Amino acid sequence: MFRGLDEAVKEIRKADSIRLVSHLDADGISAASIALSALTRAGKKIHLSIKRQITPEVIEDLKQEETDLFLFMDLGSGYMELLEDLKKSCKSGLIVCDHHIPSKEEVPGIIHINPVLEGKNEDEVSGAGVTYFLAERLDPRNRDLIFLAIVGAIGDIQDENWKMGGINREIVEKAIASGAAEKERGIRLFGRMNRPVHKALEYSTNPYIPGISGDESAAIQFLSSLGIELKKEGSWKSLNDLSEEEMKKLATAIICERIRESEASPEEIFGEIYSININGDRLDAREMATSLNACGRMEQSSVGILSVLGVRPFDNINGIVAGYRKMITKYIKWVKESGPKETEHAFYINSGDQIHENFIGTITSICEKSSILDSGKVIFGLAETEDGKVKVSARAPKEIVGRGLNLKDMMGEVAGDEGHGGGHAAAAGAFIPTGKEKEFIDSCEKYLKNKLK
Ligand code: C5P
Ligand code: ZN
Repeated sequence: MFRGLDEAVKEIRKADSIRLVSHLDADGISAASIALSALTRAGKKIHLSIKRQITPEVIEDLKQEETDLFLFMDLGSGYMELLEDLKKSCKSGLIVCDHHIPSKEEVPGIIHINPVLEGKNEDEVSGAGVTYFLAERLDPRNRDLIFLAIVGAIGDIQDENWKMGGINREIVEKAIASGAAEKERGIRLFGRMNRPVHKALEYSTNPYIPGISGDESAAIQFLSSLGIELKKEGSWKSLNDLSEEEMKKLATAIICERIRESEASPEEIFGEIYSININGDRLDAREMATSLNACGRMEQSSVGILSVLGVRPFDNINGIVAGYRKMITKYIKWVKESGPKETEHAFYINSGDQIHENFIGTITSICEKSSILDSGKVIFGLAETEDGKVKVSARAPKEIVGRGLNLKDMMGEVAGDEGHGGGHAAAAGAFIPTGKEKEFIDSCEKYLKNKLK
């Protein structure tokens, strides 16, 4: 497997106390769950924090701590210069388990485990996947944690069209062979365990169901016309509650609608569904990823971690997920009402303190993928942070990325050195000083005009 695993295992065996730092998304929380479980098993003293980002402030805080070993998960590779600074100031060991594109390959004293360093793609394994391989190398008993590597990959949307590739494929096959997960083929609808079927149809954008996606009453009508009851014993039926017969009827009808509206590849509505057994409950890996993401954004990662590790009932998460959905609805309403600034190439959602920094990325993504802003343009979300800066989230449609725009490069340039911009071509972020929003927007406009002329 990856370079650095054996060396990292040696460091872990030597250490008594280990300081874990992981990323505040479903992948990061999955990685943290793996590490927490594996290192507790190994009898280590653990201290874990979940962070939005590695920043100079985070590094300054870590410098004050005493530990034998730092372990960074699903973050760090993009900020090797900052980790180098931390490493220089302490005697502790330092391991990074990440899959983001490294800003620097080798740093003396840092064990850097990242498949990108071995010519792999950052999308073929998640931070949780990399952390899993370390846990497995440490102790074969940790193989029971492999399902979290599937959840992490799904959280990072590495299963394009609901099929995993590359190293993730090997992980899925291993998980199935060991009985840790089951795989079946089914209709690619989100929320098969928890969401009412008509809602799953309404929210489905991939596969797109002409006339039904985005229209709740059309979805209800569609199911009624197929003779599929919406409720069973007074409560909404989820996709999982449908009989085999109903499922077949539904699949055929969706394909027919797609043929009628000449959708490309109308029959491509099936995908792989991974289910995982936790304390006798069968859970969908996709829903686990959604739930962990919600826990992170609501700053309740610990509930997520304890639930996926089976220490607390998984149902405990439902209230957090409901709260998360409410926040999203509230913020989207605010975006619509406030009317973001629109220019030739972009929208700017300059939210001040109206949208929490944990949500600005998600809200910007939703606006880019939906018709809320009637977009097709680059979207920037700006939100004030608790430590007195402004967080920027940028998202670009595929078509614009195809014309040569790379948001990672753009954020790096526009936000400047202290802006710590980074990310990917289609999704990136940065921090800017409060009060510099207008200057930032002007610089973005100049950059976009030049790039997209
Ligand atoms: O925070 P947001 O969801 O907008 O981030 C989009 C992507 O950009 C993520 O992959 C995140 O890790 C990355 N990012 C970064 N540096 C920042 C902000 C975001 O690398 N300062
Ligand atoms: Zn990740």
